[in-house]
Amino acid sequence: MAVKRIALAYSGGLDTSVAVKWLMETYHAEVVCMALDIGEERNYEAIRQKALTVGAVQSVVVDAKERFAREFVFPALRAGAVYNDKYLLATALARPLIASELVRVARETGCDAVAHGCTGKGNDQVRFEVTFQALDPTLTIIAPAREWGMTREDEIEYARVHGIAIPVDLDNPYSTDTNLWGRSCECGVLEDPDNTPPAGAYEWTHDPLTAPDQPEWVSIGFEQGVPILLNGEATDPVQLITQLNAIGGRHGVGRVDCVEDRLVGIKSREIYECPAGTILYLAHLDLEHIALDKDTLEFKRGVAQRYAQLVYNGLWDGTLRPHLDAFVASTQAHVTGSVRVRLFKGTAVVEGRTAPRALYRKDLATYDVGDTFDHTASEGFIKIWGLPTKINAALDRG
Ligand code: ARG
Repeated sequence: MAVKRIALAYSGGLDTSVAVKWLMETYHAEVVCMALDIGEERNYEAIRQKALTVGAVQSVVVDAKERFAREFVFPALRAGAVYNDKYLLATALARPLIASELVRVARETGCDAVAHGCTGKGNDQVRFEVTFQALDPTLTIIAPAREWGMTREDEIEYARVHGIAIPVDLDNPYSTDTNLWGRSCECGVLEDPDNTPPAGAYEWTHDPLTAPDQPEWVSIGFEQGVPILLNGEATDPVQLITQLNAIGGRHGVGRVDCVEDRLVGIKSREIYECPAGTILYLAHLDLEHIALDKDTLEFKRGVAQRYAQLVYNGLWDGTLRPHLDAFVASTQAHVTGSVRVRLFKGTAVVEGRTAPRALYRKDLATYDVGDTFDHTASEGFIKIWGLPTKINAALDRG
């Protein structure tokens, strides 16, 4: 496969640094590196420089935090997408974004190939490559870590021989991935699903057992399913998520431990931290329960599951999502209002909610004076509602 210039999704870590040199040597090609800032707090200028030091002909850093929040995270929040009942999809949502920015950079810098550092065992390779194929099928796709057959030790040796600086955190026993929406942690002692995660597996959240003894309340204001107010103040998406991560993390909210089904057929044990996501999902769903009718809520639950699957399985740019988005958008027209959540020692509990278009009617719900519900109508309703049950039960009795 002859390629001249390869755009590489670069993180500054060992794998992608080795990949720069390996691509240059193996393909006799130039390498352009792109690092994406999607909310992991890192020194991006140092990452940009490192790529050049290793040998990239160009190195760019793209700030995509805002785009990530608005175009990826909030649509998933509105849809209510949760994978395997637990995972809020931080990594899965970021991959199609990284892939689309890489395709853009590849075109702008005259590349004929794109490359990523994923192994052949995970979901991320699928997510990257499906999006590459969708956005620009003319680009050759290269996955060095799938091709080179090097162990971690081989990589370290390769880096040493080629004068590539070895990252200082190489003794980190975990494999992690971090962005604005969440942090994931796997490998090491976590590979035994029966092992309690060591304290060091968590970085964003306080241990709930030693979290503050005083609860804290946050109120989230939504407009058409999008969070726009934090404690009554207009807050932009990135700030809102960042601040909620800090507040929730302080109270130990958002820890998730799950055995998850990968697309490639294996189960893996993962630890996630997603304080903002946990609070926002809880608040959003609660608001939906006061603003949406029973049928729509029930149907939307199935859509949420399907949405989560397609995001997890790398089909963000696939055929189904636009149709699900259209349904979700239609449901969110009246999902406007405010939800108050109490945070305390690892728990997030909704304490109150208001919505201008609430379907809740006190005059129908009340057991006090002012009740307008027609009690007499229930008698006939129950006779007909229970008719099939009554007929079947009579047959069973013989
Ligand atoms: N299992 C998650 C996913 O497929 C997260 C994987 C992130 N990678 C990591 N090295 N922790 O979306």
